[in-house]
Amino acid sequence: MKQEPERKDVASKHREVYIKTAPLLVGLMHDFLFKEIYSFLISKDKDEKTLLQIGPGSAMLPFSKYPEKVSKMLGEKGKIVLLDYSDKNIEAAIRYLLEKDFFKKSGLKLNSVELVTNPKSLEARTITFVQGDIREPLPFENNSFDCIDITLVGHHVTPFLSDLDRLTSDLHRVLVKRGMIHYGEGSVYMDSESRINILGSDTADFFNDAVLFVDERDEEFKRYGLFQKGVKNAKFPEKKNPSIGNIELFLDKEGNVTLSANSDEEASKYIKFLKTKGRKHLDQIENIVLFPLIDEENKFDKIYFIDPIWSFYGNLFHKIQRSFQNDTSFRNEAVKVVKEEFYNAKRGLVEFYKSIKVISRSMKASRFKDIKRKMHKKSGHKKSQFGSIVAIK
Ligand SMILES: C[S@@+](CC[C@H](N)C(=O)[O-])C[C@H]1O[C@@H](n2cnc3c(N)ncnc32)[C@H](O)[C@@H]1O
Repeated sequence: MKQEPERKDVASKHREVYIKTAPLLVGLMHDFLFKEIYSFLISKDKDEKTLLQIGPGSAMLPFSKYPEKVSKMLGEKGKIVLLDYSDKNIEAAIRYLLEKDFFKKSGLKLNSVELVTNPKSLEARTITFVQGDIREPLPFENNSFDCIDITLVGHHVTPFLSDLDRLTSDLHRVLVKRGMIHYGEGSVYMDSESRINILGSDTADFFNDAVLFVDERDEEFKRYGLFQKGVKNAKFPEKKNPSIGNIELFLDKEGNVTLSANSDEEASKYIKFLKTKGRKHLDQIENIVLFPLIDEENKFDKIYFIDPIWSFYGNLFHKIQRSFQNDTSFRNEAVKVVKEEFYNAKRGLVEFYKSIKVISRSMKASRFKDIKRKMHKKSGHKKSQFGSIVAIK
């Protein structure tokens, strides 16, 4: 297996916390998705049923909870393929399944890690891990799977709406006709793209020239957008560096933007201009201007970006605080982890949740049919943080 760098997402950095808090935070969504997939596969009158789970994490939830049912829904010749980019999560998931006696209980065989382009080539009643990265096209042939689960994964790779459209269209491609997909996510729109668009087009206006925006938040997968003067939205992301002109905005992995002006004076003028746009945190070192993409003191950023994110994570905090009252050391650790995720999200980093509404719109554009949305909340609770989309090709 290819050794991948340790990732910044919580499920990869804090595996134990994720596994222990998952029933509390996303248990309803897991129950729902399992029920949907189980009923769908059971109803299929077909020998060779194939399920793809994208991003199984370190515990293959929720499937690992139900070995007997998984065995039954797959039938005589079914197969499961699990795609994840993290070698560490794949190893952890295999360890977890072995610890839970999953293979014995389900009667399914572990195929370990392989390169699979078509599940038809696999032995019947096997579970196969594939190491792959969904920032790239899915490594499977068209019409490969009867069912796909992608839960709490897509948001890591969709900072831009065009990333989401590319992903949903690729999911559509690898699903068989009349196959079913479950797409589960947190339902909050972390829209750093609109902040980038405003900054890029304002900057092009100020310099009266085209501006190249270089998004280096994900160092392994840089994105570029070109802002022409007078154009409000750049085409994002252009994968290759469009290599133009002088003016470049760089967004780094801490969520900070830098721009090198042609002179110290020009940098000062640019700062004054950004102040007129409501930005407060601005630094200058000679001709270099440095500021955060999301400015906590900018009224607009606060209301439209930070407050909804706070409301999302605030709810998670409360749930953890209430549920782990008697296990203070775990509670403190879990709160620390959620805070870390919140801290990233409010700077426009790592977590790029799109709301369930936005995802279903993208799935519709990618030609999915019978799209059903379901928000998950306990009765008596006002808000639901997580939601599911179930759709058919
Ligand atoms: C939060 S876990 C989700 C686990 C499980 N689906 C669930 O519902 O509990 C996210 C998983 O997605 C994987 N992942 C994140 N980005 C990925 C990418 N670009 N390609 C493939 N897998 C990715 C992570 O390694 C991790 O295993």
